[in-house]
Amino acid sequence: MSTHAAQGLISAHGGGNLNARFNPERAKDLAKDAAGLKRLTLSQKQSCDLELLGNGGYSPLDGFMGSDDFKSVCKNMTLANGAVWSIPILLSVDTGQAPKVGERLALHAPNGTLQGVITVKEVFPHDKKLEIPSVFRTEDAAHPGAAQVAKEGDVCVAGPVDVVTLCVDPQGPEAFLSYRLTPAQTREEFAKRNWKTVVAFQTRNPIHRAHEYVCKCAQEICDGLLIHPLVGETKKGDIAADVRMQAIGALVKRYFNPATTLVSVLPAAMRYAGPREAIHHAVMRRNYGCTHFIVGRDHAGVGNYYGTYDAQKLFDDVDQKNLGIVPLKFEHTGYSKSYGGMVSGKSFPKIEGDIINLSGTAVRELLFKGERPPAEFSRPEVADVLIAAAKAGTLFVQ
Ligand code: ADX
Repeated sequence: MSTHAAQGLISAHGGGNLNARFNPERAKDLAKDAAGLKRLTLSQKQSCDLELLGNGGYSPLDGFMGSDDFKSVCKNMTLANGAVWSIPILLSVDTGQAPKVGERLALHAPNGTLQGVITVKEVFPHDKKLEIPSVFRTEDAAHPGAAQVAKEGDVCVAGPVDVVTLCVDPQGPEAFLSYRLTPAQTREEFAKRNWKTVVAFQTRNPIHRAHEYVCKCAQEICDGLLIHPLVGETKKGDIAADVRMQAIGALVKRYFNPATTLVSVLPAAMRYAGPREAIHHAVMRRNYGCTHFIVGRDHAGVGNYYGTYDAQKLFDDVDQKNLGIVPLKFEHTGYSKSYGGMVSGKSFPKIEGDIINLSGTAVRELLFKGERPPAEFSRPEVADVLIAAAKAGTLFVQ
């Protein structure tokens, strides 16, 4: 019996081993070794990907993808071995930087920290014409995820990685060290708490009332809730991760039960790929030991690129047994004035103008005036953290 089964927990995705790519005891020797290797500086997104390869969040991947996995992910949403996988994990570089097969490269984070070593197994052209429309469902240069891929290098370097450093900036404001649990550590915590079913909540925002409501509903049917904000790279103008974490801390302290709630962070980069990214988010949470995953309105969407329930629909096209983690789908929720509480169109009839719904722009205007959005939209404890950040000029990713 595997350790996970012995603990009563869900297995890692695709039969992977969570601890395969990072061994703290080997890391010192690896670092010495890396000093003599050619150096490659990663982008922020690649650095986030390498952390997840190292911590087991990307299990069963052993490194950056080769062309077979890449094509299979784009065309079939599975790895070449058949495991569900929806987002290419690529190490693309400029043509002039392409290494030779067999070479080993020292991978450095954007801040210069040695993060790991790759053994090059394959070098292949970066087929952006395949990647962009299949992952983002658009080729619009204004889509932030598509625009990012379009700018990336034209050659992909594939091969297994060995990670030297998991968190590359442990003193930085976005390290969240006490919250930065690896999949092995969240699993340990779930086992300790005897949680057999755990629902994960992904977010890249402060938790507003609608988010809180879907978490509460899910909490009623699972042993535990993992509030798992994404704190890797996000785009300019999104709410900064440290501000979000402060707001989440204030909210959880006052409104959640510590016995059934765990807060931890996901060091992943956002792709804004909507439906495809929802599957990706779910796969990672399986590795973190979760059995259920919240998918609400326009999950991981941006602008008007995806329909409100496109992400939910994509889960219907995926083999549930292969995916393993169960999506918990929620309709668009909000505070109903006539009901006097949180509802969705499923639980209360729709009445024109009944739901308190503020646009992102309207919320921002209030915050910059030092005014709280209505308590039916955002808890005052959350609003106050956001107002303070707006005043200090730290609300947004710059
Ligand atoms: S996301 O990029 O992480 O999906 P966000 O932080 O806004 O963005 O959403 C987190 C989760 O809450 C997602 O599953 C999303 O679908 C869900 N969600 C956000 N707002 C609502 C809402 N009003 N009703 C139902 N689900 C919602």
